[in-house]
Amino acid sequence: MRARGRVLANVLVIKSSLMGEAGNSNALVDLFLDKWRINNTHDVVSVRDFSTDPIPHLSRERFIAFTTPEDDRTERQKSEVALSDELIAEFMAADVLVLGVPMYNFGIPSTLKAYIDHISRVGKTFHYTAEGPVGLAGEKKVFVLGARGGFYLETPNDTQTPYLKSILKFFGLDDVTFVIAEGLNINPEQKEKSMQEARTQIADLLS
Ligand SMILES: Cc1cc2nc3c(=O)[nH]c(=O)nc-3n(C[C@H](O)[C@H](O)[C@H](O)COP(=O)(O)O)c2cc1C
Repeated sequence: MRARGRVLANVLVIKSSLMGEAGNSNALVDLFLDKWRINNTHDVVSVRDFSTDPIPHLSRERFIAFTTPEDDRTERQKSEVALSDELIAEFMAADVLVLGVPMYNFGIPSTLKAYIDHISRVGKTFHYTAEGPVGLAGEKKVFVLGARGGFYLETPNDTQTPYLKSILKFFGLDDVTFVIAEGLNINPEQKEKSMQEARTQIADLLS
């Protein structure tokens, strides 16, 4: 698809805050999209908000459904695989991935992990070779917009940044930019300062 000579991009937005509209990570995602749309008017933006539309936890049954040959699947397994296939098709079609990532209990939200568990399928988003696993997700720019109550960056307690880098790399994605607002629960002044710094970083990225 082209608009005025420019190839359109598919932008896939994942919101994983519990808080919906009130989420700080969602505020950063919404600001990012507002600024993105200024220079990319015709891009196709798809939003998944796990606060209203969560992905089920990966159960044993679901995992067995993924690995059962297509012709042998029960009706229930077919519907479980259909969700995973839909999420993978959307993920693979994206040129730009925007992840809103709150810190909850020292990790990424369980809804985001459930999403990752649904898109991580051999032969679809990665495969194994004699040299090890190879990601199949192609060329994508990834933006991670994070919100945290405390301060963790560059400490061993920042479990999110290394994990997201690793799993995205596993899918073949290494063009990843992080903007993280930290210290949001320290006091209102710190929250405003950190959010303003994050807003400035987003504006600089997209100017
Ligand atoms: C269930 C829950 C667990 C949290 N755990 C942590 C935590 O481990 N570390 C931290 O710095 N902040 C923690 N916080 C604070 C959030 O990181 C902070 O409120 C941030 O704004 C969440 O992003 P959101 O507003 O987009 O949901 C927690 C908040 C909630 C609701």
